[in-house]
Amino acid sequence: MVQKNMEISYEAKLADRAEALKDFFGGDDKEATSVEKLELLDQFESLMIKYRAAVREVTTKLEVLNDELSSFAERNPIEGIQSRIKRPYSIAKKLKARGLPVAVESIQKNLNDVAGIRVICPFISDIYDVADMLLSQEDVLLIEKKDYIEKPKENGYRSLHLIVEIPIFLSKGKENMRVEIQIRTVAMDFWASLEHKIYYKFEGHAPDYLEEELKACADMVDMLDAKMFSLNEEIMKINQDEMEAETAAEAQAELLAAAAAEKEK
Ligand code: GTP
Ligand code: MG
Repeated sequence: MVQKNMEISYEAKLADRAEALKDFFGGDDKEATSVEKLELLDQFESLMIKYRAAVREVTTKLEVLNDELSSFAERNPIEGIQSRIKRPYSIAKKLKARGLPVAVESIQKNLNDVAGIRVICPFISDIYDVADMLLSQEDVLLIEKKDYIEKPKENGYRSLHLIVEIPIFLSKGKENMRVEIQIRTVAMDFWASLEHKIYYKFEGHAPDYLEEELKACADMVDMLDAKMFSLNEEIMKINQDEMEAETAAEAQAELLAAAAAEKEK
């Protein structure tokens, strides 16, 4: 029975996807080799190549920052980077849902999240540091910022969202591409993955008690992030004090040695 249901829902999913894609690549026309269809497919593929290039550019920038800081400042503001390019049927579905034309030209004009990058940081302070470092680079243009940490969503969702525009360099020149960047802590990411799973499971209509439990978890995540941050601050302070004590002891030893040498004379 379970197997049967799974088959049905998988078929329904495929039908749904096929329906969304039809709009992109040519209505009910079954002619697989029609030149128009192939041209559309080509245009679509070229655009996706550009989004992939933009994702690589931003990912490299983030990796460089993390490498530099882990080597000189002995800190790792980035725990992990994930990226994805929106699937064709999701692109079609989103355009359709917004009443926009489902056409290749419409993608770049209307969607900001075809290229998506998720950055996972240990602490909340790292999120803002990473965002500031990235946005201060001269080729990164901020288009939109949504701070769901300062102002969490009603369901408890927290993350910093940036839409940026970044140049990519192609055989025929430069093109600016948009990338959505979500920056969040490990704890926020843990919460968001579970919430996403529940949201999909109940198609956005989870039972009230689950929504309440999720909200309670979001508050715990918030507390955990604050606690981890203050603990880390304390550890850093202890390290700093130890370093200062060591430097003072070294200076003292040098003074004593100099005084002893003076006495010897
Ligand atoms: P979308 O049309 O969903 O992209 O929303 P938007 O254009 O208003 O952008 P927003 O910045 O609010 O959300 C962008 C993305 O953040 C979503 O596609 C999700 O990946 C993520 N996101 C936003 N809200 C939630 C949430 O409540 N829960 C989870 N798990 N993810 C969220
Ligand atoms: Mg989105």
